[in-house]
Amino acid sequence: MTDKNSSQPVIELKAITRVYATEALETHALQNINLRIGQGEFIAIAGQSGCGKSTLLSILGLLDVASSGEYLLDGHNASQLSRDERARLRNKEIGFIFQSFNLISDLTIYENVELPLTYRQDLKGPEIEERVMSALEVVGMTTRMDHFPSQPSGGQQQRAAVARAIAGKPAILLADEPCGNLDSKNAEIVMRLLEKLNRDGATICMVTHDPASARRAQRYVELFDGQIVQDEVLRRVNGEKSDNAQAVHQI
Ligand SMILES: Nc1ncnc2c1ncn2[C@@H]1O[C@H](COP(=O)(O)OP(=O)(O)OP(=O)(O)O)[C@@H](O)[C@H]1O
Ligand SMILES: [Mg+2]
Repeated sequence: MTDKNSSQPVIELKAITRVYATEALETHALQNINLRIGQGEFIAIAGQSGCGKSTLLSILGLLDVASSGEYLLDGHNASQLSRDERARLRNKEIGFIFQSFNLISDLTIYENVELPLTYRQDLKGPEIEERVMSALEVVGMTTRMDHFPSQPSGGQQQRAAVARAIAGKPAILLADEPCGNLDSKNAEIVMRLLEKLNRDGATICMVTHDPASARRAQRYVELFDGQIVQDEVLRRVNGEKSDNAQAVHQI
């Protein structure tokens, strides 16, 4: 994670659009999205089904490319990268947590956490091992590291996925409905884990349908029909007020 303070954005989106064009119709999934995310912020992205939340997260996570606009990630102009450069930057700077965990079933929990690090040219063997172990410790999964993903409960699988996401020390953690497949007890465990990571300095952007989860973030961004219709600071980051939230005309 970077040492930058909250006034320097980790992420800056300028006039981002995403149009999906099929033969029959054009979908404007995102329209004129302007968003600055500072170091240490915990942002909830909400809005009804189809409003563009996952599309936005895919662009933030360099899995998808905007149709127009500019994306700056930790000082890199992500809009101008080749596919390979994007993949490298993604592996280093982005940690993903998905609703369906997305662990690889024939690798152990340890190997799942280790895998993305093995593609990193800047990390050597002992450093990789140390990072995997410390990430597993943070989520309380060291005792199950030799298990395969089908053995632990859903909550434990998601904790393993969180370990995989944080092991690379990314600039930002992106979570798309991280509690969507969990019962309320495990959802609470994962939410508390995200809150703890954020208190320890992680920058988090979480998509959620659940208003109660959204209220636990520091900043609330709501989309409607591909546009940001609300961007509100709910509480301060480390005692400092984020100046990244923008005044948005509410529809
Ligand atoms: N690959 C695609 N091709 C065409 N249209 C797409 C594609 N992906 C998403 N869309 C459309 O873009 C819009 C935004 O979709 P997106 O998945 O981002 O919404 P969402 O807010 O994540 O919804 P949900 O809450 O149901 O997950 C929708 O109208 C969707 O149908
Ligand atoms: Mg979605």
